Amino acid sequence: MTDAGSTTTFTVNGANPYPIEIGRGLRLDLARHLGQGIAKVLIVHPPTLAAAAAELRESLAGDMQVLLAEVPDAEAGKRVEVAAFCWQIMGQADFTRSDAVIGFGGGAVTDLAGFVAATWLRGVRLVQVPTTLLGMVDAAIGGKTGINTNEGKNLVGSFYAPAAVVIDLDTLTPLGRNDLLAGFGEVVKYGFIAEPEILDIIEADLEAATDPTTGEFRRLVELSVAIKARVVGEDFTEQGLREILNYGHTLGHAIEHAERYQWRHGAAVSIGMMYAAELARLSGRLSDAVVDRHRSILTSLTLPTTYPAGRWETLLATMHRDKKARGSMLRFIVLDDIARPTVLAAPEPSLLFAAYQEIGA
Ligand code: GLY
Repeated sequence: MTDAGSTTTFTVNGANPYPIEIGRGLRLDLARHLGQGIAKVLIVHPPTLAAAAAELRESLAGDMQVLLAEVPDAEAGKRVEVAAFCWQIMGQADFTRSDAVIGFGGGAVTDLAGFVAATWLRGVRLVQVPTTLLGMVDAAIGGKTGINTNEGKNLVGSFYAPAAVVIDLDTLTPLGRNDLLAGFGEVVKYGFIAEPEILDIIEADLEAATDPTTGEFRRLVELSVAIKARVVGEDFTEQGLREILNYGHTLGHAIEHAERYQWRHGAAVSIGMMYAAELARLSGRLSDAVVDRHRSILTSLTLPTTYPAGRWETLLATMHRDKKARGSMLRFIVLDDIARPTVLAAPEPSLLFAAYQEIGA
């Protein structure tokens, strides 16, 4: 099935509702989201998108002054020095509160751009244009913005809603296959916590499901975005429901830390989901069949489902540190069944270890 190419729009509800558009070629028609009276725009982008960012600038240039901030890609861009570089460009261009920032790149770039927009003059208009699958279905939606410090990831930031999220599927096509498949970690997560159709589509035709030009792929993005939009619309600041989005992330974050953030996020979350599934199975909640379905879908996407057996103590210590940082007890999102997520709070150490033995390589 080829993607017919029309535009689908979702709305994120809340104090400041905003649209999420999904389509093709949309990045070249951003002016309508920037609003009246915007004189200047800063496009924050990584080096790999320099030519594409220049093309964006051309598409906007008649209406406003467009500045480019080229920043390091991935976590190297989420540093206070890089934010300061963006603030400097804005300061030197006399950016006012009625000007705007566009985040154009993967999840790290949209996190940084969001943080810069949230902090300049206490907040200027922000349009997010994610260019990776992870950014499209997760990072650019929901207003989590931030940077890292030497002590950890995302320790400085704010919840700051964008004015719009523009998902242009054409920006994905040149992506490396491994990056794309890693982005599927989050897509599969939505399948297990909320939307079994996602799992069915991947199982029915893996090749079509993972080809950004197909209707199947687009449907997966739409189903994923619909879930994220609904959840963050109901619980912007993560007081309850939004926590379900952390399925697979408690152990996943500890693995990312153990791997010094050299792993793709989706790969770490894949192991984290497998672990959460084993936790649920061993605590009598989840059937063997659903646990096996985790393993077969994640493996079909070439995502890892095991981790070295000898690393448990290190991972547990990291999860406990994370727990302290959040001022709460160790909590895992687990499933009672597909689309029935729940919280497992303060599980017994013996259960935690037994589940790890199930995924230990
Ligand atoms: N990435 C999880 C969230 O946005 O809450």
